[in-house]
Amino acid sequence: MFFDMYLPTKIVFRREKEALDILKKERDNFNLSKVAFFVSNSSKKYGYFEKIFKILNPQKYVILDNLPVEPTEKDLEDIFQKLKDENISLIVAIGGGSVLDTAKAIGILLRNPLKDIKKAFIYIDKFKNEAVDMIAVPTTAGSSSEVTPYSVFKVEALKSKSPIVSRKGFYKLALVIPEYTYTMPPKVALYSGIDAFSHLIESYLSLRSFEISEFFSIFGMKIFFENISKTLNNANTLARDNMVKASLYGGISITLAGAGLMHILGHIIGYYKNLPHGHTLALVMPEVIRFYGTSVYNKLKIFEDLLGKRNLNPLEFVNYFSDFLKELFYKDLQVEKVKFSKEDIKLFINSLKGKEKLFSKLPKIPKEEDIIKIYENV
Ligand SMILES: [Fe+2]
Repeated sequence: MFFDMYLPTKIVFRREKEALDILKKERDNFNLSKVAFFVSNSSKKYGYFEKIFKILNPQKYVILDNLPVEPTEKDLEDIFQKLKDENISLIVAIGGGSVLDTAKAIGILLRNPLKDIKKAFIYIDKFKNEAVDMIAVPTTAGSSSEVTPYSVFKVEALKSKSPIVSRKGFYKLALVIPEYTYTMPPKVALYSGIDAFSHLIESYLSLRSFEISEFFSIFGMKIFFENISKTLNNANTLARDNMVKASLYGGISITLAGAGLMHILGHIIGYYKNLPHGHTLALVMPEVIRFYGTSVYNKLKIFEDLLGKRNLNPLEFVNYFSDFLKELFYKDLQVEKVKFSKEDIKLFINSLKGKEKLFSKLPKIPKEEDIIKIYENV
């Protein structure tokens, strides 16, 4: 019945022309004395960066491009060292999830410098100062970094991908222009879409969920099921527009209710294996649902009508839902199957040691043997 909500990002979800007009008006609200632009190569290639740059037209600026696709805490340290004495007044990030995450973490660290950057990953919500003002222009539809307090890096000390979590590090303005996602290659559209779905379903199943987060989760999941296959076709702009909305809803729902076991297990795979984030989530998702079993039936039963399965008992229905996801991912969407060896799984399990506190808001707490089974059955 009671809840706290903090979603401070101004979200502008508009066609390009309108969004850029709004940016022109917003320009005066930001200090443009020295702007750091974090730019993906494709946003340069397709001219998105140029358009934003022209409107902001800052007095001084630095451009950070050729950013790592899978940034590590070492990359973060290097960029921080480069920028720490530059008196950056505004950060503008244009690109996919990694670019937005890297820029966001730098925005936090510039106002909250740490001697040991690794501490950023355990300082959950411990940063005192507000980040540098930041603007995000996402060019993929899934990470939703533009509206969340999370930024994810490969962290060697934790043998996992791991988020910096700080409510001092929200973007001030998210300029969400669906046209900028039309240039995503189909594989990027697929895996970022699955990332969005994972945010939606994990927050929905989290014990932290409540009516408002569930509203975003349920609407977002509906949009995902209706559009994910069509979004693989670059020409289907309506599907791409819709997936941008699903991604935004996913970002809002994880900001309100958090992610869960799929991200915990997927991040460990992502640390060891060179697989896209959304791919690692697709692998574990059906098996995590199967593990949750009847504990999530009351939530998942909203899909009984959609899947035409009103006649099953709770356990049968949850297993059916898990099989349905497998069929969707592997058959319809052609997600590549990946199998893990015994040695792989040993490494994954070792990574989890000491991270049990991450399980506290899951609908069912896994034991080591449950996790081994999940990894074995992907
Ligand atoms: Fe994610």
